[in-house]
Formats: sequence, structure tokens, C-alpha cells
Amino acid sequence: MNRRAIVAANWKMNGNSALVDTMVSGLHNISLSDNVDVVICPSFVYLSELAHKLKENSLENTIALGAQNVSDKASGAFTGEVSTDMLQECSVKFVIVGHSERRELYKETSTQVAHKVATVLNAGLTPILCIGESESERATEQTEVVLSSQLQPVIDEIGIEKFKDVVIAYEPVWAIGTGKTASKEMAQETHQFIRQFLAQCDAEIANKVPLLYGGSVNASNCEALFAQADIDGGLIGGASLKVDEFSVICSAA
Ligand code: G3P
Repeated sequence: MNRRAIVAANWKMNGNSALVDTMVSGLHNISLSDNVDVVICPSFVYLSELAHKLKENSLENTIALGAQNVSDKASGAFTGEVSTDMLQECSVKFVIVGHSERRELYKETSTQVAHKVATVLNAGLTPILCIGESESERATEQTEVVLSSQLQPVIDEIGIEKFKDVVIAYEPVWAIGTGKTASKEMAQETHQFIRQFLAQCDAEIANKVPLLYGGSVNASNCEALFAQADIDGGLIGGASLKVDEFSVICSAA
């Protein structure tokens, strides 16, 4: 099955205008295979600036813009929230939903995450749905139970057919920002489980969903991870803030 590869940068609450400049000029001559989509998800504050700079450098068709979060409400008295309409005005195409930091630190539940996935799809944007187990859940062999419990509410909310427009990022929480990457075998095994879980509902759709790995991906381990049968790219945190390293990761996809 030939799925498109995706490399998405999640800048989290890092970066500034200078990084926007450095990234756009650094990625100017990036060599990408035709089959790869690159997405950059800066803070909301820098979306318009990045959109503008990508256009100025004729990179708007090479690098897509993503947001790190979104509201499941359309508009109104929701201080501090950002709607899909607002993201569309900034040329955003992808939205990270349910990152483990949102689940852990801001107590987003899998039901709320499912609503957000539906909202993003209804707006014609592509959700990057994050799922992943904690270290203790991995240690107590709960990984598959946890991943199923994160996926099922989304299947219930949107239906399996709509997964044709969803990207899933498997990010084991213990590997995020720790330098402890899952081995390529462990990552592949878990990605295969995710695909099989979706295949119980619809094998054809399951085969089409891009599954990204996230968690301490860097220039040295990306190639081995991306070579796995069920790994279709990565969601990159720390290494996406360094233009040279991010370029290597994009070229490896
Ligand atoms: O969303 C990306 C992420 O959580 C992984 O972060 O810094 O381990 O690559 P990092």
C-alpha cells in the first residue's frame, strides 16, 4: 500500500519570528520526494507570519501550515480559544488534536478530543489525532487497552469512513521530549496494532490512514523508524526547532 508520508513539526510553546525566518530560508532548497507532505505547526501567534513568509518564498505548495489545537465551538464567549474559521483565514490545513500535553495538562478527555476531530473535519481541515500510552501503562501491558480507549470515542463520533481524512500520530508519552525513542520494532508493532484496530471496522480505510510516530525522533533515528511498514512519517517536537535536523528528517521520509 502506497500511503503518502507526512512529517509534521510541532513547535509547541517554542519559537519566535526569528525561527519563522530561519525555518523558511533553511527549508528553501529542501529536497523532498513527491510522496511527502511537510507540515509546520507553530504557535497560533505565528501562523499568519509563517503563511506570509512561505508565500513570499514560493513554498506555500511545499510546506503546509498546521495548528496545535482548536476549539470545538464555532464562535462566542470563549476567552482564549481559537476556531476553525480563524485557522482557515490563516491558511491552516492541519490541526493537531488530543496531544498528550493537552490531555495531561489541560485535562482534555477522549470525548472532547473526538468532538474536536469532528469539528476539524467539518471545516474541511485535516486532524492529526494524537494517541499514546504513559510509561506505567506500557510497563503494565495496558498499551493496547489505552490506545483502543482513545480511538473508540473518535470512531463512535465520526464513523470509520471519515478516517480516510484523518492522520493519526502515535506518541508514547514516555518518549516525548525524553530522548527515549521507542525502538523501531516496538513502534512498528504498535502502529500495526492501531491499523488492525481500525481494520476491525473497515480494512480498506485502515490501510489508507497515515500513521505517524512521535517521541524523540531525530536525525539519527528517523530513517529506521520511517522504514517500518506501518510508519508513514513523524510528528516531531524538539528536533523540528533546528532547521538542519528537521531538513534531514523531512528528506528521510
Ligand atoms: O508532538 C511532538 C512530540 O510530542 C514529540 O516531541 O520533542 O519528543 O520530538 P519530541
